Amino acid sequence: MEANAPWWEQAVFYQIYTRSFCDSDGDGIGDLQGIIDKLDYISELGVDAIWLNPIYPSPHYDFGYDIADHRGIDPQYGTMDDFDRLLEELHRRGLRLIMDIVPSVTSHLHPWFLESRSSRRSPKRDWYIWRDGPRPGRYPNNWRGVFGGRAWDWDRKTQQYYYHNSLPEQPDLNWRNPEVEEALLAAMEFWFARGVDGFRIDVLNYVFKDEQFRSNPLCLGRRPYEMQRHLYDKDRPEAVEVGLKMRKLADRYPGRLLVAEIFMDNPGEAARYYGKAGDGVHMVFNFTFMFARYDAAAFRRIVDRWQELLGENNWPCYFLSNHDNYRHISRYAAGRRTEARARVAAAMLLTLRGTPFLYMGEELGMRSRRIGRHELMDPVGVTYWPFHPGRDPARTPLQWTGEPHAGFSTARPWLPVNPDYELINAARQEEDPCSLLAWYRELIRLRRERPALTQGSYRSLKQVPGGVYAYLREKGKGRILVLLNFTGRKKCFSASAEAEAAGARLLASSTGRREESPDLGRLRLEPDEALILELEN
Ligand code: NOJ
Repeated sequence: MEANAPWWEQAVFYQIYTRSFCDSDGDGIGDLQGIIDKLDYISELGVDAIWLNPIYPSPHYDFGYDIADHRGIDPQYGTMDDFDRLLEELHRRGLRLIMDIVPSVTSHLHPWFLESRSSRRSPKRDWYIWRDGPRPGRYPNNWRGVFGGRAWDWDRKTQQYYYHNSLPEQPDLNWRNPEVEEALLAAMEFWFARGVDGFRIDVLNYVFKDEQFRSNPLCLGRRPYEMQRHLYDKDRPEAVEVGLKMRKLADRYPGRLLVAEIFMDNPGEAARYYGKAGDGVHMVFNFTFMFARYDAAAFRRIVDRWQELLGENNWPCYFLSNHDNYRHISRYAAGRRTEARARVAAAMLLTLRGTPFLYMGEELGMRSRRIGRHELMDPVGVTYWPFHPGRDPARTPLQWTGEPHAGFSTARPWLPVNPDYELINAARQEEDPCSLLAWYRELIRLRRERPALTQGSYRSLKQVPGGVYAYLREKGKGRILVLLNFTGRKKCFSASAEAEAAGARLLASSTGRREESPDLGRLRLEPDEALILELEN
């Protein structure tokens, strides 16, 4: 590790959706003890830190993103003692933990909202967004919610509408009230003081809404939500300021990280959350990268642009899968080439300049597939059935073994296990030196051993055949060339001019070939191959 670079710039993160990771007490729901039981697996993978999706007490309308108490642990997942033990065990192994904080909404059962809705004169009335309609029976404006329907719900008792961008059970907080800011920062501080290493901030760009509550202009779109341009219900400039304030707080505790979900496909806007003087959040997830189709030129364009936007001083981070989207192995699926593509994608993710976030199970090549109507749990899937698969397909239980329930639980899991678990599971891959798991481990080890891969500069090569994404990572004398063939065809070309090196040594190949010293003047990439070379000067 480089002594003076922050730990997160050198780390590989592993995202754990606790509910689906490992069930230690046989109720069909993953829990904190389950994570503790699997710490050897996590350590052996070689990752440095975990991000836990929300584990706070919640009625689980949105599976934890509807928080009912910011300072507790949901009994389904364990106790505060379990949490402290998990944190201690992680730290003992040199691993770090970041929590998930949800600043824009709470659960409708949070005491703050219960108080707020109790009366128009409640001292917490203004903690949420309450409005009258322009006329009886009319909504305050045309805003729609991301999960479907109007974003306003009528409260019969107090005769006003409250705003919810997500579910009606997730009222939005009013960030124009300084008490809200204070309460959220205090909640974060509670966990910092307990020793957590940072936060992933949920949809930070949604915290502020237009002060005048203007209606969004209409446009063409597939779903009603997409039939308006969301100019006024999100992405307000004030949201960037919230990141700055959170950063100020984090800076009071040494070595704490903030990584923000800026849910948008506009990197120029998303980059603003780093702050003009690098005083915003430390990292921003790049959704354009995650949304990209499986295409060398597309990835190159996105990464080059992100590099350009962030410059030298802001640190990128990348991910391909998370708990909200179809797993990338399934998005990129191409029959018999599917796993080979997943290997190329892993090589890219783990050799780019920027912190990689892995989503649990991607190292095993776990697939997403549609879930039957009667087994759907995610409100998005339920609302949009049969037009949208919802997010359950990304959240099925981790496939540990070929035993019943994939070794995830002794009971019937809360979501069905993917039926391919007898073929795709950790136990099987642990024994196979050629497995996808072994490839992830090798890449992570390589990244850890080579400062050029963590701290090195990044430059994409221009003179490469179509379908190939190639880049150089350089730090001092350490020079690494990454070659990714996104096609199913062999590619032969010369990289000598751009790489400016006397020779090269093969560090890793996703097809397992072991040619020691490839000729840079006559490179050969196999179909769907990722090749990592160390350049000799
Ligand atoms: C973003 C989270 O990633 C997602 O899972 C959640 O449903 C929404 N925020 C709304 O809370």
